[in-house]
Formats: sequence, structure tokens, C-alpha cells
Amino acid sequence: MTMKKPLVIANWKMHGNTRSNAQLISAISSSIDTNSTCNVVLCPPAPFLNQVVLGLADTSISVGAQNMHAAEFGAYTGEISASMLKDLGCTYVLIGHSERRSLFAESDTDIANKYIAAINSGLTPVLCVGESLQERQNGTTEAVVKNQIQAVLDAGGVASFANAVIAYEPVWAIGTGETASPEQAQAVHAAIRQQISALDPEIGENISVLYGGSVKADNAGELFMQKDIDGALVGGASLDAKAFVNICSAAI
Ligand code: PGA
Repeated sequence: MTMKKPLVIANWKMHGNTRSNAQLISAISSSIDTNSTCNVVLCPPAPFLNQVVLGLADTSISVGAQNMHAAEFGAYTGEISASMLKDLGCTYVLIGHSERRSLFAESDTDIANKYIAAINSGLTPVLCVGESLQERQNGTTEAVVKNQIQAVLDAGGVASFANAVIAYEPVWAIGTGETASPEQAQAVHAAIRQQISALDPEIGENISVLYGGSVKADNAGELFMQKDIDGALVGGASLDAKAFVNICSAAI
């Protein structure tokens, strides 16, 4: 972990209801102090964004969305724009999560367009990248991740990474209980930072690169000890207040 303030993001995915959310909000916010040295973000399903924003109003915890549409407004039934998320009180948005890429066929171009639209609206995009099991076995992990990042660099340039977050999430580690080893993760994180630093050393140094994929309270500490791991994007364990708070504590 570098000297920058660690960042831990909860991705609730399509889970929860107003009752369970209220319990999670209260358990998490009462355990994370407003002067925390860790930045914490909760990403609930879109219908609950308002509830979570209001529930966290007096805390240091921020709110993010799990997805957005690239257009500002228009005839896109069922979609949500970046300015709507901003208006609701979101400050972050996940872009290009592997479930969006694989289950909803989002291409690198779609993802780059969303990313740029998020930046233009003043949201902090969390660009999710990662290789499949097959790609890792083929030895193409770094090439795959670099290409995913390059698609955004081509669209927005390195300046678009000045206020952004990258989450490295190996697809084979998401929701499987299998985590990349701290060394495996560190190697990819270093390559990601290098890709950005080669274009702008200051942006490369300052960008937060999070690890995601079966992060739990008992493996977070050793991941966070790695030089280029600045925090975590947490799925399953973020639905358990105690586990999530323990992961945040491990980041401090
Ligand atoms: P997981 O999910 O922690 O349940 O593996 C991570 C993610 O999908 O962001």
C-alpha cells in the first residue's frame, strides 16, 4: 500500500431491500469513524441510491452507482445518466465491471464512452479490468488488462485518469472464493501503474488501483501490504457489515 489514503468500495450487486439496507447502513456507519483514514464507498442497486445517500448524510462514507448510460439524456428506456447519479448525491460509479462486460455484452468502446461521460459529469469512475481464467492460463493477463485500459486512454487520454480509480478484478476470482495471491495481484497492479506512469508519472503515482475478487476480512491484510494495491472492491463480503468493516480496518 502506498502513502495515499486507501479506498474500499462495496459492490452490493443486485442484492438487498430497504430493510436490509437500513441495517447495513447503520452497522457500517456506526463502525467507520468520520475521521477514518480509509475512504469508504457503498454502491447499492440503483433504486436504493437515494436511501443510501440519505442514510450516510452525516458520515464520511460516499455513495457510488454500479453502472450508468453514456448519454446525457434521451430515449433510452430503463437507463440512468451520469448527471442523474450526480444529482442524487453519488460521487463514484463503477464502469465496465466484468459482469457488465460478460452478461450484458459491454464492449471496450461502450465502456470508454461511459467512462468519459462519468468524468464529464464530475463523477469518479472506477474502471474495472481483469482477465478470464483462460487468458491467465494462456499467459495473456497483462496484455488483456493493458488493452482494456488502452481503450479508455484512446478515448480520453491520460488526463482522464487524473481523478479516477482502476479496479483490477481477475474474472476467475470474482465470487468464487478464489483470490489472486498477493504476488499475482501486485504484478498486475504494478503493470497497470506503469502503463499510466509511462504517459504521466504524477497521474500514475497518484491513481488508486484497487484489487477485487473474493476479498475477505482474512485475506485483505496481505493484499493491502503490497506496494501497488491501494484498496479493494468488495462484492460478497460487503453484504456482511462486520466482514466489510474488518476489511476497511485492514486498509488503515
Ligand atoms: P466478490 O466480488 O468480492 O464477491 O468476489 C467482487 C466484485 O465483483 O467486484
